[in-house]
Amino acid sequence: MALPPIAVLGGGNLGSAIVTGLVGAGLRDLRVTTRSAASAARTAGGPVRAVALEDDPEANASAVAGAGIVVSGVKPAGTADLLRAIGPALAPDAVVVSLAVGTPVAALEAALPAGAQVVRAMPNTPVRVRQGVTGLARGTGVADAGFAAVQEAFGLLGEVVVLDDARIDRISTISGSGPAYVYLLLERFADAAVGLGFDRADAERAVAQTFAGALALLAASGEPPAALRRAVTSAGGTTAAAVAVLEHDGALGRLIEDALAGALRRADELAGR
Ligand SMILES: NC(=O)c1ccc[n+]([C@@H]2O[C@H](COP(=O)([O-])OP(=O)(O)OC[C@H]3O[C@@H](n4cnc5c(N)ncnc54)[C@H](OP(=O)(O)O)[C@@H]3O)[C@@H](O)[C@H]2O)c1
Repeated sequence: MALPPIAVLGGGNLGSAIVTGLVGAGLRDLRVTTRSAASAARTAGGPVRAVALEDDPEANASAVAGAGIVVSGVKPAGTADLLRAIGPALAPDAVVVSLAVGTPVAALEAALPAGAQVVRAMPNTPVRVRQGVTGLARGTGVADAGFAAVQEAFGLLGEVVVLDDARIDRISTISGSGPAYVYLLLERFADAAVGLGFDRADAERAVAQTFAGALALLAASGEPPAALRRAVTSAGGTTAAAVAVLEHDGALGRLIEDALAGALRRADELAGR
């Protein structure tokens, strides 16, 4: 399917990651906006020109004119205002895709003209290298062709999972926030390695390659993670001693459950629930 022109309003962390991924997939008709000129300069590059509202107050309206997919990449607090502002400029068949955590489809639809097509998307930052995971929830009025185009666009950026709106905030606690958990683990393992006497550069290299290698082996072997873990963990050995500490009384699982619950609570607060 030939994708329509795509506008990304709010080329920040996640918006610019999407743009970079789409450019990597060969797309060229991308319009990007930011609030400040400094952010626009950071986001622009290659075939992409980002226009700042600071330089052109009509930049968002210009970007959405004729765009078939309009991605709202601004913070949740600014999303409704942005949608109200662009509503009149949307093309009749445009699908508006909101990235905002904790902002349900109904709130997005309420900020747009009646009958507007709305999809909620929850991507993560590895979309930048086309290795992302994106949860998609379809609004009530979205035509099959519009939804197919959105699925195809995000499919260029990695895996797509179609969910109902209620579960979008749940996937955001796992895959949306997930890269931060992985980086935090890398940081803490590297800190511990420094504590064992390694210099920081060696520690970071060893830890990062251990994660990368473990995931590459997982993908290549087709084995489940538990089987690969058991293959490293001889009974009574050193790995078993470490795993016993991590798993003591279900400690690691509980810590992860508590972390996800915290993220979900925050999504509820943002949604005013
Ligand atoms: N970061 C993630 O991994 C992640 C994951 C899932 C969902 N999300 C969601 O994605 C959205 C963006 O998050 P983020 O981390 O990418 O935030 P961010 O880095 O602050 O990006 C927001 C961008 O929006 C621009 N902006 C603000 N108001 C605008 C307007 N009226 N018109 C056009 N551009 C405007 C900002 O420009 P300036 O920089 O000039 O202010 C900035 O470039 C949020 O709704 C968040 O809930 C993020």
